Amino acid sequence: MIEVLGREVEAQQIGKTLGHARHGRGGALLVVGEPGIGKTTLLRSSTTGAGEDTGPAGMRRIQVDGFEAEAQMPFAAVQRLVMPLRDYLPALPERHLRALEVASGRAAGPPPDRFLIGLGVLGLLAAAGSQRPVLCAIDDAHLFDPESLDALAFVARRLEAESVAVVFAARPDDNVDAHMAGVPRLPLGGLSLEHSVRLLARSVAEPIDPAVGAQIAVATGGNPLALTDLARELTVRQLTESSLGDQPFPVGRRLESFYVRQIRALGNEVQEWLLVAAADATGDLALISEAAAKLGLPESAADGAEEAGLVELAAQVRFRHPLVRSAAYNAAAGRIRRRVHHALSEVADSMGRADLEAWHAAKATLGTDEAVAARLEKAADRAGERGGFTSRPVSWPRRPRSPHRGRAGTGGWSRRPRQPSPQVPRSWPRTCSTTSTRTNWTTSPAGVCCPCAPSGPCSPPIPRSPGSAPTWWRRPTSSTATTTSSSRPR
Ligand SMILES: Nc1ncnc2c1ncn2[C@@H]1O[C@H](COP(=O)(O)OP(=O)(O)O)[C@@H](O)[C@H]1O
Ligand SMILES: [Mg+2]
Repeated sequence: MIEVLGREVEAQQIGKTLGHARHGRGGALLVVGEPGIGKTTLLRSSTTGAGEDTGPAGMRRIQVDGFEAEAQMPFAAVQRLVMPLRDYLPALPERHLRALEVASGRAAGPPPDRFLIGLGVLGLLAAAGSQRPVLCAIDDAHLFDPESLDALAFVARRLEAESVAVVFAARPDDNVDAHMAGVPRLPLGGLSLEHSVRLLARSVAEPIDPAVGAQIAVATGGNPLALTDLARELTVRQLTESSLGDQPFPVGRRLESFYVRQIRALGNEVQEWLLVAAADATGDLALISEAAAKLGLPESAADGAEEAGLVELAAQVRFRHPLVRSAAYNAAAGRIRRRVHHALSEVADSMGRADLEAWHAAKATLGTDEAVAARLEKAADRAGERGGFTSRPVSWPRRPRSPHRGRAGTGGWSRRPRQPSPQVPRSWPRTCSTTSTRTNWTTSPAGVCCPCAPSGPCSPPIPRSPGSAPTWWRRPTSSTATTTSSSRPR
């Protein structure tokens, strides 16, 4: 592992949370910072012990990362967290177990109550922690599907009597803020001047004038990714010159355009291979390689991407940084992206991955395609059956619109109006709020977000007594009775 500079105070704070958990006073912490500021590095260095699965002082370590590809798959992250804890499933009360099984698609049934899912996850962690203290390192939480974020935030607020610590890392994000209310935050800023200069000096090929180093450190705000990548990209002379000029340094989101330039300097085949890998985002090398071959790209294109230091090739393709992935995608023209999505949808189809196929097919479609729309609709229904009513409107409203349905010229996407039915969520997602992708979800006259009302601003749901809720929204009596202030799973 690289030598981590600075971060003593932050590491201490994480260490304190872990120490408390080892003594049965669990808790959570949310590390928040801009891209490249060092969240992953801090999380890794302060929560890893002798091995990947071991935390400091022999704690059991479980890592769950957010992935863009799963950001709209309901409970995808919960499912990944539950996997390593599956030995404890039999210890759960029947209804918690059932809720987790339905949420993860392992059993059929009515959409589970989120409260029961939260209790199920808490129960698993508590059971594991009673044998050996547990530490969950959760990176890129801003890429979690909203259902999982909700469930984990629920758990994070109820750990005080458990031997469990959860450390989250996320970019500044309204959605994360809304879900994580009540979870202590640890804002992560840039490195100190001294550490920035040291990082820069250690990353450049030749010695750099300390005064120039200091200027660059200030200009980048001590963002380690900006510092290391600037050093890698530019000669000392260039660095010296740019420190004296007016050009803004590529920091935070601006780093993306920096990578776009870097990617555009590569050969066409390597660029296109990077686009395939970025467009898929499951990172599945088999899928990506097959789609690349379909597009006529040689195997050497993947090697070229790795040699450029932009990806690591293993069973799972890993981009050097999430910003490199978005740059690879954004560097390409829409026409080429659609061709790539088309190839990916064909390969996903041949692998029997229906939801992925539908998603790529939709991305490959410009204008109207009823067949794709029908497959999207089915995928949405599958998500709904697992209780994914928050992700569902985000992931599946972009139905290719037929000309006679709705207005033209609005991007060609619409959502088929649905009548309120028993399938509508029982516990309403808090994230059903204003975002451009959710404009078809609005506040009904009854004060509840509903999918069938016409487009318009979408407000957070208004809490109401079960008696006043419309019948399709009301929770069954059995689940209204489950509300408790106890932190213990029941
Ligand atoms: N404290 C640090 N000391 C040295 N290098 C660091 C430090 N923090 C981050 N880096 C380097 O900066 C790059 C970006 O850091 P990363 O942890 O991936 O940022 P984030 O997760 O916030 O996007 C990494 O390649 C890492 O090597
Ligand atoms: Mg990171």
